[in-house]
Amino acid sequence: MKYMGDKDFWDEKFKSRGLKPLSPDQMLMDHLDLLKKGRVLDVACGDGRNSLYLLDNGFQVTGLDFSLEALNRLTGFSKAIKTFQRDLTSKSAFEGLGKFDSVVINHYRLSSDLIKKIPELLNKEGTLFVSGFSDIHKPDAKITLDDLIRLDDFKSVFDRMTLIKSVDSSDSRGCFVTYIFILND
Ligand SMILES: C[S@@+](CC[C@H](N)C(=O)[O-])C[C@H]1O[C@@H](n2cnc3c(N)ncnc32)[C@H](O)[C@@H]1O
Repeated sequence: MKYMGDKDFWDEKFKSRGLKPLSPDQMLMDHLDLLKKGRVLDVACGDGRNSLYLLDNGFQVTGLDFSLEALNRLTGFSKAIKTFQRDLTSKSAFEGLGKFDSVVINHYRLSSDLIKKIPELLNKEGTLFVSGFSDIHKPDAKITLDDLIRLDDFKSVFDRMTLIKSVDSSDSRGCFVTYIFILND
């Protein structure tokens, strides 16, 4: 998968990025008010365009990614963000992180093994924001069928979490979906 890529692919990509972080994701900015304030985990945070936005908006941010290049850049942008280098293909990637009020997953398709663990990561009435290429997007060599996010990916948490928002969107890059869930208890 080129879009998800392996560690070397992403390290190289972040090495060649410009000095400044990219702008935060529009869907995150549009839906920030739906996220529970407090501690937020930015899953597959990259060099932190969204982590930095969340920090600026009063969240205490933890970023997780497997690319050390990305995490070093993020720490260079702000020392106030805690980072963990973890590989999300491992079932234990979320161990020892503590609890969060919100979890953000932007442009990364999380494994079913880790999706199952999200309710345990969240505090009471915690929220989950997920956004990325949707199954309406036409796959190609870069964004493959396996990269497309489907509501069904989250079926293992339907008994513990309620979908409060679902938005389809598109731009010149393709078709996207955004889901926001809240923990029932
Ligand atoms: C498309 S980027 C999205 C970055 C960020 N969430 C954003 O919206 O700008 C995908 C990110 O997933 C990370 N990633 C890919 N595979 C991973 C894995 N197995 N474990 C942890 N991070 C991974 C990459 O290093 C990269 O930062």
